[in-house]
This record gives sequence, C-alpha cells and structure tokens, in this order.
Amino acid sequence: MDKFELVNRVLPQPQAAEATDEHFAPSNIALCKYWGKRDSELNLPINPSLSVSLAHLGTRTRVEPIEGPADDVWLNGLQLRADTLFAKRLSGFIDLFRQTSHQAFRIETRNNIPTAAGLASSASGFAALTLALNDSLKLGLESSALSMLARLGSGSACRSIYEGFVEWHMGHRDDGADSHAHPIDRRWEGLAIGLIKVDEGVKSVDSRSGMARTVESCHLYQSWPLQANTDLMKLHQAIESQDFTLLGSTAEQNALSMHATMIASWPPLVYWQPDSLAAMQKIWALRQQGLEIYFTMDAGPNLKLLFQQQDATEVLAHFPDLEIVLPFGS
Ligand code: PMV
Repeated sequence: MDKFELVNRVLPQPQAAEATDEHFAPSNIALCKYWGKRDSELNLPINPSLSVSLAHLGTRTRVEPIEGPADDVWLNGLQLRADTLFAKRLSGFIDLFRQTSHQAFRIETRNNIPTAAGLASSASGFAALTLALNDSLKLGLESSALSMLARLGSGSACRSIYEGFVEWHMGHRDDGADSHAHPIDRRWEGLAIGLIKVDEGVKSVDSRSGMARTVESCHLYQSWPLQANTDLMKLHQAIESQDFTLLGSTAEQNALSMHATMIASWPPLVYWQPDSLAAMQKIWALRQQGLEIYFTMDAGPNLKLLFQQQDATEVLAHFPDLEIVLPFGS
C-alpha cells in the first residue's frame, strides 16, 4: 500500500479549502526513541516510543487557498523558493490531501523553538500543518487520525499532536492504520528539560537515512526492539510513580543504546562531536557528586538534560547557557 491509498481511505470527502487561523503543535523529545522503520513509505516503526511535548515550544502554521499552480511557502516570515527542500517536503505532504483537486495553498509557518536549542522542528511542523489542513478542508478528523496522518510527514510528528507525555503505539497492520500516538494521562509538575546546544548546523546524515543504514548494517540492532520495549515499560512505571531516578536513567540508557546501534553501523554513524562527549562526561561527574541530572540525545550532537526544577539553580550554575523548558509547568 502506498501513502496516497492510505490517506484516500482515511479522508472524508474534503470540502472547498478555506483560510485558517494559526494552529500550534509542540515540539517533542523522545525518552524512548523511535529508531528503525518496518515500512519506509508509510513511516511505520519497528518499536514503540514515548515522548514528552515541550509545552509552548513548537510550530504555528496557517494555510490559505490561493489561485495558481504552485504552493507559496513562508517560513519564519521569509518566502521560500519552491525548489528548496523544505518547500518540497511541505508541498509533497499537502499532495496527500489534494488527490482529487489541484488546490494550491499559501502556507505560513513559524517556529518559536530557540534557534540556539539545536532542536528539530519537523515533528511540530508536520503536526501543525496537519491540524491546519484538517481545519481548512473541514475534515473533522479525530486526534488519532490526525496523528496517523502527521506520521506520514515525519514519524515523530505523530507524537506532536498531543501535549504532555505521549506514547506512539507502533501498530501491527501492514497499512499502518493502527500506528499512531496517544496521550498518557499523567502530569509531572517540576519536571525540567534543558537544551544544551553543541552544534546547530544541518546534520550530515538525516534520520531517515540513518535509520535505514542502522537496520541494514548493524548486528547490534537486533537487540534494539527488546531494549525499547523494556524501556517503555520502565518509563510507564516511572511516570506512574513519579520516580525521577527511574525516568532519567531509563531515558539516558535508551538514548545511549540507540547511539550504540548507530556507531556500530557500516559505514559508522557517529552524530557526537567532541563537545557532546565533554557534556556527557560533565553530567556523569556531576551525578557522581550527587546532582541528579540525566540526558537524552537524538540523531544529532546536541544534548537534552533531564532534571527536577528544584535543582534548577545548581544545574544553571554548571550550564549557564541552558534553555529550560517545563513541560507541565512548575
Ligand atoms: O521523525 P523522524 O523521522 O525525524 O525521526 C526521529 C528520530 C529520533 O529523533 C532520533 C527519535 C525520536 O523518537 O524522536
């Protein structure tokens, strides 16, 4: 099945497109990572994953139908050429929604993720665009269907449809209709995330290619689904009992396990830079001295610190440039 067929089955008859207000979707950070696809056309994962959404940090998008053959894409107030990778990805995604029409759109999308944070915006970007298209075309889709559709733009976007803790159920159907995220009904006031920027340049190997390389060439990858499933259970337990030690240690080990599979791929895939390792060593040393901080990392050199708000002053003393997010408030 290709994604056009899948979307065709899910979408009700679209109405004539209308201009929308801005729709917001938060960025998210996985505590149990999505790494490896069982279907790369439909973005179906090999393992389930769990994330926390970053409250007010994310993407705002509005769409408006326009005359003419091509979309008009604006990012952070700047008009993009149609041949840029960003504009092509957006238009390619919108094509899924206009299978029976040639309606072009003006798309205005803005990220409020601090540029220095080294955070990917594709998850919040595709989630916000899905919400805007749902509104513009009066589709009236439920959150689980919106999550499934956002997944087709970028896998992790399916989690950005929701606030708070979110689990992406991997699903088992070949058509991927059961692979979407759900919110976890638990809050955690005082949970803090710190963004440590090591490098904000564009990464040399994107996550799609990185996952494919790992699945194809890394023998260690065989153990990854088991690791992810075990970590998922531990994270549920940690969230249920608000056990920060269990949450932080599980998230850190999960991220390092994912990076171990990347490093043991061929050709090797090392996203770390010397400063990434220096930050890890600093975190381990501080933890030994009694400061309870952990980290997680995605397919890039930047670290995300996990700590409790009560330790914020001490954490800031060691990482003065830290951008702090409280996903559930204080
Ligand atoms: O959604 P993608 O295709 O950008 O992949 C995201 C992969 C990781 O960020 C490494 C892990 C995750 O679960 O977000």
